Amino acid sequence: MIPFQSDSNSPSGTRPAPPCTLVIFGAGGDLTKRLLMPALYNLSGAHLLPDDFQIIGVDHAQNDDAGWKKALTDTMQGFTKDKTAEFYTPKLDDAQWGYVTSKMSYVPADFDKDETYKGLTEKLGEDRSVVFYFAVAARFFGVIADKLGESGLLKQDGGRFRRVVIEKPFGSDLQSARDLNARLLKQGDESQFYRIDHFLGKETIQSIMAVRFANGMFEPTWRREYIDHVQITAAETIGVEMRGGFYEPTGCLRDMVPNHLFQLFCMIGMEPPNSFDAEAVRTEKAKLVEAAHPVIVEEAVRGQYTAGEEFGQPVKGYREEANVAPDSRTETYVALRLRVDNWRWAGVPFYLRTGKRLGNRRTEIAVHFKPAPYQIFKDTPVDQLAPNIVKLMVDPEQGISTQFSAKVPGPEMKLAKVENSFKYKDFFEEQPNVGYETLLYDCMIGDATLFQRADNIESSWAVVQPLLDAWKEGAPESYAAGSQGPKGADDLLAKDGRKWLPLKE
Ligand code: BG6
Repeated sequence: MIPFQSDSNSPSGTRPAPPCTLVIFGAGGDLTKRLLMPALYNLSGAHLLPDDFQIIGVDHAQNDDAGWKKALTDTMQGFTKDKTAEFYTPKLDDAQWGYVTSKMSYVPADFDKDETYKGLTEKLGEDRSVVFYFAVAARFFGVIADKLGESGLLKQDGGRFRRVVIEKPFGSDLQSARDLNARLLKQGDESQFYRIDHFLGKETIQSIMAVRFANGMFEPTWRREYIDHVQITAAETIGVEMRGGFYEPTGCLRDMVPNHLFQLFCMIGMEPPNSFDAEAVRTEKAKLVEAAHPVIVEEAVRGQYTAGEEFGQPVKGYREEANVAPDSRTETYVALRLRVDNWRWAGVPFYLRTGKRLGNRRTEIAVHFKPAPYQIFKDTPVDQLAPNIVKLMVDPEQGISTQFSAKVPGPEMKLAKVENSFKYKDFFEEQPNVGYETLLYDCMIGDATLFQRADNIESSWAVVQPLLDAWKEGAPESYAAGSQGPKGADDLLAKDGRKWLPLKE
């Protein structure tokens, strides 16, 4: 991970990646345009790309080197006019972008044809280290891996590395994830496969490990004796946008829960690893997810947004969106309770919720502590005492806040809720970051800490499999766009005598 490196010659003191080639399957796709190229541009600006570097784009469309460079230059220029884009820069730095384009070449080719891989073998040569990036629809993952393996492109002799980066969705349930893992592992070793979850590229999520394991004051209380429950929220205001075709068969559970939300769950719940070595960290995460009880169907709620208002503007319901069936039963919201059967967390519920078209964008983890054991402030009713909450804020605010009770100034001993807040932007200079910089760099240097191991993926699917099975039937509950989500989600916590934190304060 970039922040933990120290010596050498980039402005941040981090070493550039070793000589290699990045082969992007899906060179004309959305991910390449929106995130990979901006990330390469930022890595170029941070001097973290090697001098001896090549980027080979592979895609079906007929194009050539100049055409591909021009198309991506136009897209990057477009970002300078759109302040709301994931990547925004007021001006494209010619030298920084020029460095990236000087390394680029394009190969028009079909992913399932043997000639594609013969051509790549010749182009790459014998000694080259290569990262193959699958920025393609999930149906191509297996076939590309097979062809790479069968054509010898995944062999790692003579000091060269051959690695594969795979985007989500990784399978659509436990069985398909197992099948895909088995298929990949026929062609290469586990250590060659880097399964991406872009939440792990977010600085603040990586920083949860630092907060927990570099500060003696948190860890002693980070357990069942002191923690009442944990709320993990990833609330979005956007709808499905133009992704109806993908989202209809996928739904919110598959799209967000066993991957992104479980990464947050792991960061907050795993045991301290023995080191920051990839295997040590991933083993601790695996142990936590294995200790999570498969979700009990009655302890989960699904919702679907209907028409409503977002930021004062009327917005469509899910069923009116493009490429969505008018009687769709796909969920756009999920809330559930996770039970963890281990020594640290037994009896502490983890409540997870995520959804589209909610009243506020907010990704955060709120750790709710148990109240003080004895109530000595007789004049303040217990329900007016502020619960102790440590909030780890990921999006859009990035930081940590703690909420507790303090005395209101004056002659009486009256208490009130106060909050102590640390914001990243107040302490650190913001680095240009679309979330893929660290992930791309890590893959080039061979640090798999922020990537999912086969067992991590499979145990996550196993936890949500009861819902995938049960939700083949029935329909989600409706909630209005711009609201806090379906009523069932509130009932889920109310049954336990608890409440979600409001999405908007
Ligand atoms: C993606 C999902 O993986 O994550 C999207 O497919 C979702 O549906 C997105 O909107 C959320 O990520 P972020 O970084 O915008 O919070």
